[in-house]
Formats: sequence, structure tokens, C-alpha cells
Amino acid sequence: MSALAIRPARSPAAVARRAALENGLGRTPQMGWNSWNHFGCKINEEMIRQIADAMVGTGLAKLGYDYINIDDCWAANDRDSQGHLVPNPTTFPSGITALADYVHGKGLKLGIYGDAGSRTCSKLMPGSLGYEEQDAKTFAAWGVDYLKYDNCNNQGISPQPRYNTMSKALLNSGRSIFFSLCEWGVDDPAKWASGVGNSWRTTGDIQDNWASMTGIADNNNKWASYARPGGWNDPDMLEVGNGGMTTEEYRSHFSIWALMKAPLLIGCDIRSMSKETKDILSNQNVIAVNQDELGVQGHKVQQDGDQEVWAGPLSGGRVAVVLWNRGSSEASITATWSSIGFNSSTVAGAHDLWTDEVLSSVQGELKESVDSHACKMYVLSPK
Ligand code: GAL
Repeated sequence: MSALAIRPARSPAAVARRAALENGLGRTPQMGWNSWNHFGCKINEEMIRQIADAMVGTGLAKLGYDYINIDDCWAANDRDSQGHLVPNPTTFPSGITALADYVHGKGLKLGIYGDAGSRTCSKLMPGSLGYEEQDAKTFAAWGVDYLKYDNCNNQGISPQPRYNTMSKALLNSGRSIFFSLCEWGVDDPAKWASGVGNSWRTTGDIQDNWASMTGIADNNNKWASYARPGGWNDPDMLEVGNGGMTTEEYRSHFSIWALMKAPLLIGCDIRSMSKETKDILSNQNVIAVNQDELGVQGHKVQQDGDQEVWAGPLSGGRVAVVLWNRGSSEASITATWSSIGFNSSTVAGAHDLWTDEVLSSVQGELKESVDSHACKMYVLSPK
């Protein structure tokens, strides 16, 4: 196997040198739900309230999924006579303040969507270009906690100044609002967005199939060293439960997203999800890797054809490891201690995060058989 050695964890001083957005949010990757992957533009306030109910009722809220994010198509076609954005009177007749109150009443937070151009991607609602201050104040007045900011109809202006203007406007709005940049990675946001937003998309849109999910994982992997508390690479929202992949493929999707410290934004209809879907999204061992306080993005450390090892350091000297078989038949995968950052003499306990079994002492390598398109995920704790 070719070894792509793991980077050592960055020192606190090195992390501090890179300025974070001064809103104090996103110390761990955001968790929640977003309407786009399953519903597209077919959204309304009743459905959003039911999703908030389901988030609590299914127990997902208790596991950390706390943002309920409305994507494109929530607003009326035009601004009002004072230039304010207006909720669509047919689909959101009670208004966003009432919805925010409802969501907050459940102990959750409300996210909304805007665009750093003249119109949003659906073209059904206005964009915020030139209206940043006004729109940020509107979102704050409505009690919005999160803004996903898209990049359509951008008039050919480069992303940095447009996203920077909204970032400042949100900081001035009088409310703490998580800022999620969605410029699809076109201008390498990992290089400049840590002082601008709390997360930045690194790729185009995910689709609910294996080829899209694996390709996006590889693209996001390139930017691993730029993620840290306060600012995360965003390989797009989860497709788990939307039907286009097998259960093992969805388990791989969730495991790799967790390891990459990606936002864990559920994209299925949690009101009617299957037991398999709920079990994947509810795995507390895997969620704990994503939310680990060290905040270092795991990455691909070994590749041998379709057999891969991904790993990343966790707090307390532990290491998270994913053995990922991207091939079409079962295969044996070996993670070597040198590639995951352990000395050859290190003896570690290995916690299998999906079966919950613990191997008490492993040394030198971790070797397991892995089914096609499946993964095994471990936390290794040195003794
Ligand atoms: C895309 C964005 C998607 C979704 C969509 C809405 O640009 O990447 O995540 O927000 O617009 O129209």
C-alpha cells in the first residue's frame, strides 16, 4: 500500500494564528436538517413545523441535530415597497418570525437561505446583492440563527467581496447568525473563508448516488488541512435516507462525512424515515467523532486501488480510522500504524463504531475484511 502519512495534529498556537470569524459559532461542525435534497422547492411552513416536531420526536435533536434549515424558495418573487424580503404568502403565510418562535420553542434553531447575487438559484426569489445590510437585519429581526448563502446570478463579481459584505452585515445585525458559504468551491474558499464564514462548500451539488458521493468525498479531502473549529469544509448535505444508495453506501457516506468534520445536515424526510436510516443518523459513536473537540479533519491516508484507509486525530491522543472498500467485491484492508500516526510499538484498544465491539489490544496494524461499498470505522485508543 502507498502510505500518505497522516499529518500531526496542529498545535493550539497554529490554529489560533488563523483568524476565525468572530461570531463564536461553529466550534464543532453544524448538525441539523435542510429542505433542499429531498423537497427542492416544494416546501411550506406546515412541513417545516412537522420536521421540527420529528427532530424532537425521533430523538435526533438530543443527539445534536439542532438546526432546521429552510433552503431556496421560501420568499415571494419580489421585495416589498421598502425593499424588504417577504415570505411567500401562499406557502409561508404566518411569516418567518412565527416559524422561528415555533422552532425555538422546541429547543431548536432556524436557518434560512439567501443568495449573493440578484436572484436565487431557483430564480423564484430575490438575491441579496446590494441589500446585504437590510437583509441581515431582517433575518436578525425574524429570529433567524443560520444563513446559507448561495452564488447564483452573481453578475460576474468574484465571490470574496460579495461574501465578505454579507459576513460583515451579519456581524452588524445584532444577532449571532451562523454563516454558511455556498459558492460551490469555485474560488477555493478554504483559502480565504475562515475569517468570513463558519463553513464553506468545497464542491458542486451532491446527488443521491454512489458516484457523486465518492467523487465529492475526494474533492473535499483536498482541503482537509484548512478545517478547524469555527470554520469547516462543507462537502454538501447528507443524502442518507433518500433512496438512491444502499444501506452500506449510506453508512459509508455518513462515516466519511463524520470523519471529514463535515456539517451533518440531514437531507431526507425525517417524518417517515426507515429504521435503517434512523439507525445510521443516530449512531452516537460516529457523531462523537464528528463533534470531537480537537476539530481536525480526517483524510485519506492510504489507497490501494479501491481499498482505502481514511484517518484523523481525535482529542486524548486517540485516532479515528475508516477502512473503506470502494470496490465491487469484498476485500481485506489493512491500516498500518505508520499511516495513521502511531509508533510501531503503540498498543491500542479498537472500538468498532458500527458494531460497538471492542478489540482490547491491537498493535502494528488493523486488518479487516470489508464488504463491497461498505466501511468499518474505529476509534483507536493508545494504552
Ligand atoms: C444550489 C445549492 C444547493 C441548493 C440550490 C437551491 O446552488 O448548491 O445546495 O441550495 O442551489 O436552488
